[in-house]
Order: sequence, then C-alpha cells, then structure tokens
Amino acid sequence: MERHSLTKGKDEADSGGMGKKYYIAGNWKMHKTRAEAAALAKELVQALKDGKHKYLIAPSFTLLETAAPLVKGTNIRLGAQNCAPEEQGAHTGEVSVLQLKELGVQTIILGHSERRHNYKEDDALINKKVHLALKHGFEVILCVGELLEEREAGKAEAVCERQTTEGLKGVAATELDRIVIAYEPVWAIGTGKTATPEDADSIHACIRKVFGKLYGAAAAEKLIIQYGGSVKADNVVALMAKENIDGALVGGAALKAETFVPIAKF
Ligand code: 13P
Repeated sequence: MERHSLTKGKDEADSGGMGKKYYIAGNWKMHKTRAEAAALAKELVQALKDGKHKYLIAPSFTLLETAAPLVKGTNIRLGAQNCAPEEQGAHTGEVSVLQLKELGVQTIILGHSERRHNYKEDDALINKKVHLALKHGFEVILCVGELLEEREAGKAEAVCERQTTEGLKGVAATELDRIVIAYEPVWAIGTGKTATPEDADSIHACIRKVFGKLYGAAAAEKLIIQYGGSVKADNVVALMAKENIDGALVGGAALKAETFVPIAKF
C-alpha cells in the first residue's frame, strides 16, 4: 500500500478531507478465549466495514483459526504476532510460516519489544524471520523502539537506526511494498505514557531517513510507519496529524470494540 494513497482520486472525496489513508492495527497480545475473539472480530467487521483506513487484527496463534473466516473478504487483515525462524522441523513450541499461511494469515508482526526484551530475540534472529515471512508472501510489521534508559542516554535514534537496518538487512527493493515499520518506544507500551506527537514524529523522521539511505528517497516516502505505545481515542488525532506518522499499532485499546473503533475511525 502506498503511503498517502488516498491523497489522489476517488477516495479523497470519501475521506472527509483528511486525505490520507492510515494503517491501524490491533495487537491482541496474549489475551482472549476463542469465544471472546470471535465476538470481538465480528463486532469489528461490522463497525469498520465503512472505515476508510487499512485495518489489521493480530490475535494469538490459537485464535487465528477462529478469527480467519470472520475477517476473510473484509477490510480487516489477519495478522500473527510472531513466527519461527525456520520453515519446519524440530522446534518445540514454535509456529511456522507454513502453518500461518494455511490459516489465512496475511501479515506477521516481528521484533515486538516484548519479543526482543522478554524473550531475548536479537536483530539477527528477527532478520531471519523477516526473510522467511517475505519469502512466503507475508506483509511484515517490523517493530523498533528504545528502552527508557536508552532514551534517557540520548540513544533513541541510534537504537531505532540499528534495529531498522539490521532487521531489514538483505531485504530486496522489490519486497518493500510488504514492509511496514512500527515505532514503539518501550517505555510507552502499556504504561499510559504516550510519546508526544513531536517526539514520535522526530523518531519516525529518523527511521524514514535511515530507510531512505538504504533504499532511496522514493521508497522512504512510501514507507508506512506506525506509532505504538498507549494509543487511545483521545491521542490518536494529534499523533496521526504528524507528517511522518502513518498509522498505529494498538495494544490495550485494541481489546474492546468500544476503545478500538474510535481509534480506527478517527
Ligand atoms: P499499548 O497500546 O497497550 O501500549 O501496546 C502497544 C503495543 O505494544 C502494540 O504492539
């Protein structure tokens, strides 16, 4: 999907003047039973069917089979929260891209800070997963973001630059239309502390610059960069108004239609 793809043509008139298509994704993390997931997916399909942005839900692996038929053919994409770095084999507890494909998953979130920090995934491992996901035709949402101590030490940009560069190492220009970056400052996740729109935009601008160095200015201009970290209905407008913010990756507020829909339809 091209950034600003609604700036031209028919959809501009439909978009109420905002003129930009955003990518709003819900990461459900390790929440919900199958019955709860089905209920939420159904509510979202109904509520977002006339929504003007691009949407995604990423339920747990065990919920994918439940959610898949409910979102199939709608404007809500189906995402997974992770995948194994290998196609198949003796990898107890892992889930393969082949298994995700079979369930109708279209997008895989990789490098989430909870994977990086709680489960010790490093850039090399994440890069391996990125390649595998791309090879099998998935869209990838590559998450990057600094810890609080890294921000306080003035290293936020350097961390995001490294995670972007290493995460994308070896990714071909022809695959870039399936790459999305999510900037999620770790200190803003689940804490109620949101980066100010200005701070978020400045890191997004840095990521876009890094991407431009790797792939050129035209590719950088098209890159979708989502912001994640305590996105709520009351801060989404100010965040999305920023030049370099092209969408949101929502955690806590994605768990209920009443909190996600206002974000998704801002
Ligand atoms: P919260 O919206 O709960 O801060 O989570 C953000 C996130 O980690 C999405 O991937």
